[in-house]
Amino acid sequence: MPAQQADDLPDYYRCVVHDVMQMCSPQQGVWVDLGCGEGPLGFALAERTDGVLVLLDPDVEALQRALATAAERGLQGRMVPVVGRAESLPLARGCADLVVSRGSIYFWDDPPAGVREVHRALRPGGKAMLGGGLGKTYPLWARREFIRRRRQSVRKKGPEAVRAFEEVRKPETFRRWARQAGLERVQVVGEGALPEDDPDTGLGMWLIFEKDKERQQT
Ligand SMILES: C[S@@+](CC[C@H](N)C(=O)[O-])C[C@H]1O[C@@H](n2cnc3c(N)ncnc32)[C@H](O)[C@@H]1O
Repeated sequence: MPAQQADDLPDYYRCVVHDVMQMCSPQQGVWVDLGCGEGPLGFALAERTDGVLVLLDPDVEALQRALATAAERGLQGRMVPVVGRAESLPLARGCADLVVSRGSIYFWDDPPAGVREVHRALRPGGKAMLGGGLGKTYPLWARREFIRRRRQSVRKKGPEAVRAFEEVRKPETFRRWARQAGLERVQVVGEGALPEDDPDTGLGMWLIFEKDKERQQT
């Protein structure tokens, strides 16, 4: 599956990481880029930590390309590739300080199962930010252009594809996934799939939660 970054638009991964830092204030330690593809978000996250970054995706070839990029950038010692799926994370319980997943939850077969698994993999006090978007600081003109192209390509697939695209980007859908995963204290941030002429378009849709420090949970 190709990454969505277009060469003629500015990079948005640093803008997303800016939001991650602001909304999660993560501790250093083990950070996971879940559904990383070729790792663009993971590389932007690596600029904010000296710790380990787990790059996790079911697509082995994408992970191989991510590792080649890591080697080019001298980051191979800090990037740990893991082949796997959100719904059955090959990660130990309580191992992760931060799990970020951008542009991937829409493709999971069972998002509530994936959310439950992310919660299991977090250490108490660890944070997760799952969803999609371009970052609050991404320039408005570029956001509009990105969303215009994205919607155009979805429209070409017909009305059912448009309906499905919008459905999985609704705040209610994110809240339902969290509820089905058994999580009560979550934040749902963002407005969903707004039209390209809305000034807030492209901010994205995120489910954010922290694993309870008091009780040992799932
Ligand atoms: C649109 S790409 C996003 C890649 C990257 N995170 C980004 O922001 O550019 C979606 C990624 O989700 C991965 N994916 C699909 N199903 C998944 C699942 N069940 N669990 C984890 N990742 C999955 C795909 O292999 C793909 O790399």
